[in-house]
Amino acid sequence: MAKLWGGRFTEPTDTTVEAFTASVDFDRRLYRQDIAGSVAHATMLAEVGVLDVVERDAIVDGLRDIESDIDAGRFEWSTALEDVHMNIEAALTERIGEAGKKLHTGRSRNDQVATDLRLYVRGETDAVVDALRRLRGVLLDLAEREAQTVMPGFTHLQSAQPITFGHHVLAWHAMLERDTARFADARRRINRLPLGAAALAGTSFPVDPLITARLLEFDGLCENSVDAVSDRDFVLEFTSAGAILMVHLSRMCEELVLWCSPLYGFVSLPDAFCTGSSIMPQKKNPDVPELVRGKTGRVVGSLMGLLTLMKAQPLAYNRDNQEDKESLFDAADTVRGCLAVFTEMIGGLEADRETLRAAAGRGHATATDLADYLVRAGMAFRDAHEAVGRAVRGAVETGRELEELDVAELRALCGDAVGADVRDVLSLDGSVASRAHPGGTAPVRVREAIGAARTRLAGAPPGR
Ligand code: ARG
Repeated sequence: MAKLWGGRFTEPTDTTVEAFTASVDFDRRLYRQDIAGSVAHATMLAEVGVLDVVERDAIVDGLRDIESDIDAGRFEWSTALEDVHMNIEAALTERIGEAGKKLHTGRSRNDQVATDLRLYVRGETDAVVDALRRLRGVLLDLAEREAQTVMPGFTHLQSAQPITFGHHVLAWHAMLERDTARFADARRRINRLPLGAAALAGTSFPVDPLITARLLEFDGLCENSVDAVSDRDFVLEFTSAGAILMVHLSRMCEELVLWCSPLYGFVSLPDAFCTGSSIMPQKKNPDVPELVRGKTGRVVGSLMGLLTLMKAQPLAYNRDNQEDKESLFDAADTVRGCLAVFTEMIGGLEADRETLRAAAGRGHATATDLADYLVRAGMAFRDAHEAVGRAVRGAVETGRELEELDVAELRALCGDAVGADVRDVLSLDGSVASRAHPGGTAPVRVREAIGAARTRLAGAPPGR
């Protein structure tokens, strides 16, 4: 197969080298972006008079033909033609003749691949943002259903203070809202056109990249031709936003794995999202959250690989960059796959309200409320802390919960500040209802926060 760059060579490429350097097996995935970029480039070349309209039309029609052949699985890819770009360009010339050879005027594979990759990352970013928005909607519905469900809040995985389940779910939502913003923000830097940079130094043809940018819906141009072909920050940003998102999903999954264990029994996952054991008939395993947690490692690994890929590259383009694709593709596929299945699973999640409430009542979870109560009655906080510590010890020694001590016992342990109204203070509902400041766990605040989050979610996705 004749190389498109074969002019200066006298010997054919070593077959091992051909296989070693080829990327078409994985970068063919960029064919739609590659063809869109070429159509826009040819259209621009015709507008500035470098191509005539007959040539342009032949190129555009030829590329469209190739695209439908690839769509239909009828296109023959060749390793000898190295990558997606040269496979398509060679096929174009084979189909339309002379005009095909003019497509690459004023362009290099260096700005071409950077363009393809930006189009791909932009599309994936939009898809992730859409998927995040769907998931956030599902989480807000869950938070609403469970706005007044009392559960134990944890620090150090020990019961700390009662909270509402809706409030906990809103904490998950907050992580995902930041993720959405991170992707949307990265999109502004992703969506710049590198074409015009050519190999690195720009081109002597009178190209007008603003035309190409408009056709491809880029918001602007890469400012510097050397940077345009060497920069892969947009890949790093996408993957890093993806890795942070996966870390969030993984944390949620870790909680779900714990919570659906019979030892907790806080929630149950739909049967359709669990699997059984081949030997233990009683088992219902939370494979989906376990796998999402496990797949987090892949995306974090991709990010590490990509950062390492870039760390010692001199300007401008280096062939190392060909290695960016598989990690990027895998990260994007993993993030999108996880988001889709996680969203479905959350939609079918059921909270066991009785178990959650019972768990919240264990571990003297309203001790802080009692201390605050004593402070309101005039005791200094440190003294109140000490007094409530004595009361907890009294409860532990008699095998009870703090809440189960009667008023007389509490007075004996904590002093005369204790009145009959202490019972409300020690109750779970009283405890959560009292945290009614903005950002608090009181059901009324949780419902307010859900409303505000829904309004933000209904706003247009940034950048589009
Ligand atoms: N397959 C290459 C890549 O993915 C395309 C650019 C190659 N450019 C070059 N000058 N060899 O980066």
